[in-house]
Amino acid sequence: MDYSYLDKIANTKALAYIGFILIVSKLFKISKLFLNLFIIGNYNKNLAIYNNNTNYKYYALVTGCTDGIGLEYANQLAKKKYNVVLLSRSEDKLQLLSKDLKEKYPEGDFPYYVLNCKNIDSQEQEKLSNFIKNFPLSVLINNVGLSHAMPVPFLETPQEEWRSIIDINCTGTLAITQAVLPTLKKTVTSEPKLRGLILTMGSFGGLLPTPLLATYSGSKSFLQNWSNAMNRELLKYKIDTNLVLSYLVTSKMSKIRNSSFMIPSPKSFVSSVFSNLNNRGGAIAKYATCTPYWSHAIYHFVIEEFFGCYNSMVNLINFKFHLSIRQRALKKKAKQT
Ligand SMILES: NC(=O)c1ccc[n+]([C@@H]2O[C@H](COP(=O)([O-])OP(=O)(O)OC[C@H]3O[C@@H](n4cnc5c(N)ncnc54)[C@H](OP(=O)(O)O)[C@@H]3O)[C@@H](O)[C@H]2O)c1
Repeated sequence: MDYSYLDKIANTKALAYIGFILIVSKLFKISKLFLNLFIIGNYNKNLAIYNNNTNYKYYALVTGCTDGIGLEYANQLAKKKYNVVLLSRSEDKLQLLSKDLKEKYPEGDFPYYVLNCKNIDSQEQEKLSNFIKNFPLSVLINNVGLSHAMPVPFLETPQEEWRSIIDINCTGTLAITQAVLPTLKKTVTSEPKLRGLILTMGSFGGLLPTPLLATYSGSKSFLQNWSNAMNRELLKYKIDTNLVLSYLVTSKMSKIRNSSFMIPSPKSFVSSVFSNLNNRGGAIAKYATCTPYWSHAIYHFVIEEFFGCYNSMVNLINFKFHLSIRQRALKKKAKQT
């Protein structure tokens, strides 16, 4: 008797089971994505965790706070009754911002600290550490960042440019975090109900290897692993770390002025961040990471779940996208000269 048809049935059944499990797992992840994005998020509740629902008792420090996304972090934190330590490089802008926040929120305190985040040496690190000791700090927003002036092949990237990107995005962020962390830890451990937060701005440029922005891409990918690794170390001190992934946002850095459904304004973007603290958004597969803005989240989910961030076709599309930006930028530059 030929029983090979039984093998065929068994194989078909096995394939059907595998297919069923794959479909169920994808459906489960898709439901989790929508749950994360549209149901779980709670802006007010999330922000109350890190100031114990008090009025201007605790401080948040925001780096790169005089423009774009950082300016919006400072504004929204002040509105939610956090005092904010403003840190950036331009004293005149910091003074204006501090004054503006004080006028809007007279109960709050908005001291500023002038620091060029490029080349922070150990003396400057200690100075910042001593300054911050004066404040009950519960939140650090590592927002400051630099990208390439325009997409450029690594071989043609001026040394000044790639060094500045690494200095500001990587070395500067680490130096500031290390200077501030002892105070953050002290504040949080001295208050039983309070938690601490370190939020670091990542980027889709770091999520996906990004040709023509190679140094920026590497620097943000560095921050991704650094922040995620530190999360486990800091949980015992009640400090949460969130690495925030973002596609484009309108700002001086992106050189995009008009928002669209894929490119939010800093205001909408920062609202989505605070609504989704400790919630992965579209970063379903990534621990201590969040892709909070809804359209970025769906985009991230589709890339990661259906293709993979290191997929060659995804990389080629990313390359072509940045090549077209480079060509347009070069044309514009040629017209101007
Ligand atoms: N915009 C996007 O599309 C996008 C996408 C993904 C991720 N991100 C990330 O989000 C973060 C904020 O981006 P953004 O678009 O808001 O940037 P932005 O508009 O260029 O603002 C950068 C801020 O950092 C300050 N800054 C720049 N260099 C500094 C330095 N050497 N020392 C101290 N402060 C310095 C600037 O101060 P001045 O006002 O004095 O210049 C400004 O306040 C960055 O980490 C970026 O990588 C942005």
